Amino acid sequence: MKTILHIDSSVRHTDNSTQSYNSISKSFGRCFIDTWLNKNHQDEVVYRDLGLNPPTFICQGWIAAAFAPEQKRSTAQKLALAESDTYFDEVSNADVIVITAPMYNYGMPAVLKAWFDQILRVNKTFTFDLARGDFPIEPILSGKTLVLLTSSGEFGFGAGGVREQMNHLGPHIKELAKYLGVDKFYEIGSEYQEFADDRHALSAEKAKQDIVALVNQLG
Ligand SMILES: Cc1cc2nc3c(=O)[nH]c(=O)nc-3n(C[C@H](O)[C@H](O)[C@H](O)COP(=O)(O)O)c2cc1C
Repeated sequence: MKTILHIDSSVRHTDNSTQSYNSISKSFGRCFIDTWLNKNHQDEVVYRDLGLNPPTFICQGWIAAAFAPEQKRSTAQKLALAESDTYFDEVSNADVIVITAPMYNYGMPAVLKAWFDQILRVNKTFTFDLARGDFPIEPILSGKTLVLLTSSGEFGFGAGGVREQMNHLGPHIKELAKYLGVDKFYEIGSEYQEFADDRHALSAEKAKQDIVALVNQLG
């Protein structure tokens, strides 16, 4: 039995009466999970909608608590890290992490960045040792698969595309993924949402086909 952690990060909902207002990235996440559970009935899904329930931004007190040795933390410091501990446990328990993300201002939504800021923590997700020289940070977790499902309004963000250099969504999350213990990373997305033409319809349809194919490959 596997545990899937499903994280949505669009601020859009999926139940608007006007279909075009609904989140595309969330529909991709739903497609992945439904297809997965169809094949693997016994697997468990843990779900978070960061758009509806945004993580708290970290602050100076949070950093002081994170860097204090565990046995020396005050009650207030333990409390300051409680949300981080919850997110960490969910990541730690997951075999597969499915993150859905719209492109906002060429990067990830602030709520998703806030989630990463809460989780990536010294002696929890990474160790820091200057004896390692110029690369002192090493991940602690390992063996996880991450599936990133995206939607963007413009196009050409892939390898060789006209906006490849403007894409700070997938590359950023891929970079951070290793600190979640990810050693297999997959990304599927649709583009052209703002053009609302056939290119968008085709792109979204292809993304859904690719998602089903990926589930068949992984599961
Ligand atoms: C605040 C905001 C910023 C956006 N920034 C970009 C952008 O930089 N590049 C882009 O291609 N699309 C951008 N878009 C369009 C979204 O990526 C697109 O609408 C996408 O489908 C949103 O994901 P969702 O359908 O899951 O909500 C932006 C949309 C919003 C609301």
